[in-house]
Amino acid sequence: MTEKPSAAIRPAAADDQSAILDLAVASGLFQQDETAVLAEMLADVFNGQLPDHHWIVLENAATVIAAAYVAPEVMSDRAWNLYFIAVARRHQGRGHGTTLLAHVEGVLRKRGERLLLIETSGLEGFAATRRFYRGNGYEEEARIRDFYRAGEDKIVFRKLL
Ligand SMILES: CC(C)(COP(=O)(O)OP(=O)(O)OC[C@H]1O[C@@H](n2cnc3c(N)ncnc32)[C@H](O)[C@@H]1OP(=O)(O)O)[C@@H](O)C(=O)NCCC(=O)NCCS
Repeated sequence: MTEKPSAAIRPAAADDQSAILDLAVASGLFQQDETAVLAEMLADVFNGQLPDHHWIVLENAATVIAAAYVAPEVMSDRAWNLYFIAVARRHQGRGHGTTLLAHVEGVLRKRGERLLLIETSGLEGFAATRRFYRGNGYEEEARIRDFYRAGEDKIVFRKLL
């Protein structure tokens, strides 16, 4: 609870890539041996191959403890997708995710963007994550049954900016 005052949010730099990969594991979202795809996605952004894609980090005491990745949806008028958000496990439940998400929304709103989508799993293990999105004003808009694998639905949350 005492962490928030010293938390700082900034756009990620190329140097942050390994900290973000460590965070993906420390949040419980990725297993250590599952980070290759994420590493590629990060490299593409920092190589300039994905121009309007943004990684944003939240630091506490000069350590990256949360990160988010947001990008525009192709073939839409100002709709965006939050492809990633995670907080290191030992810092979860202290408001950092909410602060980071509100920051991302604020940046998009200022740019005149219109809609933010977030996709997550329908599995019981993601119930707290879904509560987090609902608590931040997202509505469950769609469910694609058996999307990730048989028995694991994709839930699409939506918020008008
Ligand atoms: C989901 C996540 C980003 C939320 O960030 P956070 O900083 O833990 O959440 P906040 O403290 O801002 O908000 C707390 C609310 O989020 C929900 N929540 C989700 N995960 C939680 C967790 N691990 N611990 C506590 N609350 C959690 C609760 O509903 C809580 O509200 P409540 O206390 O009124 O029930 C973070 O917990 C996380 O990284 N989880 C694992 C990775 C993940 O699921 N990422 C999203 C993938 S789609």
